Amino acid sequence: MRTVLYPGSFDPVTAGHLDIIRRAAARFEQVIVAVMHNPQKATGAFPVEERIELLKAATCGLDNVQIRAFDGLLVDAARACQVDGVIRGLRSTADTEIELQMARLNRQLGDVETVFMAATPAVMHISANMVREVGRLGGNLRGLVPEEIRPRVAEALRGKR
Ligand code: PNS
Repeated sequence: MRTVLYPGSFDPVTAGHLDIIRRAAARFEQVIVAVMHNPQKATGAFPVEERIELLKAATCGLDNVQIRAFDGLLVDAARACQVDGVIRGLRSTADTEIELQMARLNRQLGDVETVFMAATPAVMHISANMVREVGRLGGNLRGLVPEEIRPRVAEALRGKR
């Protein structure tokens, strides 16, 4: 596998996402980070354009990483980008069931192969959902989101419902 797609909601990008992006960038020739819609999740806290800007700021300096946004099915994004496969991070057994279901579905729908990367223990407790909650309640986001975007994320979330 040379070119991979890393899809997600990235609402916003977390320290856990960045860990996966960095490790993927070191292993694969090209990593396309795809901001996509998760129909299982409520409307996002950050507009898609802002998620892209935050991802670009967080991945600045990683020359083989591109950030793009896609509507629709993951298999269609994978086909449009002509990637060799998709990567997803796994934090816990709670993630596993749904991730396996998605991986099997994507293989059935579009012959898309998924490669799982185990989350680094230091960031495996972090989710975008928790970041939003801590940020909305004015908590410290240090270590939860990439440091370069922490002030912007904190400011955007503070006081948001
Ligand atoms: O960061 P998330 O919310 O866990 O990412 C989930 C995402 C966006 C990758 C998933 O919901 C997705 O693939 N959305 C696109 C729609 C799709 O292809 N659904 C069917 C396959 S699961």
